[in-house]
Amino acid sequence: MIQKPKGTYDVYGSKGKNIIYLENLLKALMEKYNYNYVRTPIFESSDLFHRGVGETSDIVSKETYDFKDRGNRNITLRPEGTAGIVRSFIENKMYAEANTPTKNWYYGPMYRYERPQSGRFREFYQFGVEALGSNNPMLDAEIISIPVTFYKLLGLKGIKVNINSLGDIESRLNYKKALLDYFKPYINDLCEDCKIRYEKNPLRILDCKLDNKLEIMINAPKIIDYLNEESKKHFEEVKKYLDILDIDYVVNPNVVRGLDYYTNTVFEVEASIEGFGSQNVLCAGGRYNGLVETLDGPSTPAVGFALGFERLLNALEAEKIVLEEESLDIYIIPMSDEEKTYSYKLCHDLRMSGFNTDIDYMSRNIKSNFKQADRLNPKFVIIIGDEETKTDVLTIKNNLTKEEYKVKTEELVNFFDDLLDE
Ligand code: HAM
Repeated sequence: MIQKPKGTYDVYGSKGKNIIYLENLLKALMEKYNYNYVRTPIFESSDLFHRGVGETSDIVSKETYDFKDRGNRNITLRPEGTAGIVRSFIENKMYAEANTPTKNWYYGPMYRYERPQSGRFREFYQFGVEALGSNNPMLDAEIISIPVTFYKLLGLKGIKVNINSLGDIESRLNYKKALLDYFKPYINDLCEDCKIRYEKNPLRILDCKLDNKLEIMINAPKIIDYLNEESKKHFEEVKKYLDILDIDYVVNPNVVRGLDYYTNTVFEVEASIEGFGSQNVLCAGGRYNGLVETLDGPSTPAVGFALGFERLLNALEAEKIVLEEESLDIYIIPMSDEEKTYSYKLCHDLRMSGFNTDIDYMSRNIKSNFKQADRLNPKFVIIIGDEETKTDVLTIKNNLTKEEYKVKTEELVNFFDDLLDE
C-alpha cells in the first residue's frame, strides 16, 4: 500500500469541518481589519528564498525542498509566505498604488524538511498577514493584535505574547560588533554550525537549538541594550499601542527569530498550556524594513506574521475547545424506491432554498435510516411514503423533541425558515 510521505497528514471528518470553521473565522476577521486576500505560487525561484529568508537561516541552509525543473531552473517549494508576497509586491508594482499601506493576508501550505514531531510537519499550513508601506508602530501593534484577537475569539486562554526589538540597521551593526567581541574567546565552545554563524551572521548564534543552554549564551549581550534612540522610541511606541489595545505581553530579549529579514519589532505567541510539547510557538512575526530593498524593490518598511494551523488545532484540543459545527438541517428518508424521485427533487429544492439537506442514498430500511439520522444529527427528518407523494402533505419530525408536524410542500420553506430561526 502506498503511504503518505513522512511529515504530511490527511484531513478528513471533523478535522476538515474544524479547519473550514477556522478559515472562515479568519476571513471574517480580515474584513474587520481591512486586509486583502493574496495568493502567490507554492514554488518560486530558489534565489528568492536564499536572498530573502537568508543563506544562514536553518530554513534555507537545511530545510528547503529544492529541485531542478525540466527546464533546468532551480526551484524551491516555499518554506514560508513573506518572501513570495514581497516578490509579488515588487513584481506587480504594488508600491506605486496610492492606498498604502498595502495590507495583505494569505493562507496555504508551506514546506520544510524538518524532523517531524507533534506540531512540526514537512507540509504545514500557515495563515499570515503582511502590511507593506508604513513604519508606523500602530501597525506593529495591529499585526500583534490580529492573532491575539483570533485566539481570544476561539476562547484559548493559555497564550503568552513575547516581544522584542532587533533595532534598525545601525543598532544591529553595533550589536553585531558586541557579539563578535563577546563570543571571540569562547569560539571553540560553540557547535560547528555556530562557528560558521560567527563568521556569517553572529545574531543567529542566539537562535541555536544546540547551544542555547550554555552559560555563555545566557550571559551574552542583549540587543535591547544596543538599540539607538530611534529604535528605542519605535519600540516604546509599539508597547504604548499594545497597552491601548489591552494586550498583555512580556519583553523577552531571547526572541531573535530564525529568519534573516527582521528589523525592529519581533514577536512570538506561545502556548503556555500544560503538557503542550516543545513546538509551542503558535505564531510569530515582526518587522522587515530591509527586505523589499534586498529583493531589488524600492525601500519599503513592512511588518507581518504567520500562524501555523497544526499547532492551533493542537492548542484547541489541549484546552478542550469544541468548535461550533455547521449542522445538517434536514434529512430525507424515502420509504421505498417508489418515492426516490419525489424525495430527490425535494432535497434539491430545499438545498436551493438555503437549508443544509441530505437524503438516504443507500436504500436503507426504516430502522437503519433512523440510526443514520442519529449519526447525522439533523434538526428535522422528513419521511416520504406513498401517502406523501400523493397528497403533497409531509410529516416533519423534530429530531430533538420528536414532535411531529404536517406541512404542505408549498409551505415547507416558510415552515423551516420560522422554526430554524428559533
Ligand atoms: P516562522 O516562525 O518560521 O515565521 O513560522 C510561523 C509559524 O508557522 C510558527 O510559529 C508555527 O506555528 C508555524 N510553523 C513553522 N514551521 C512549522 C512546521 N514545520 N510545522 C508546523 N508548523 C510550523 C515565518 O514563517 C514568517 N514568514 C512569519 C512572518 C510573516 N514574519 C513576517 N511576516
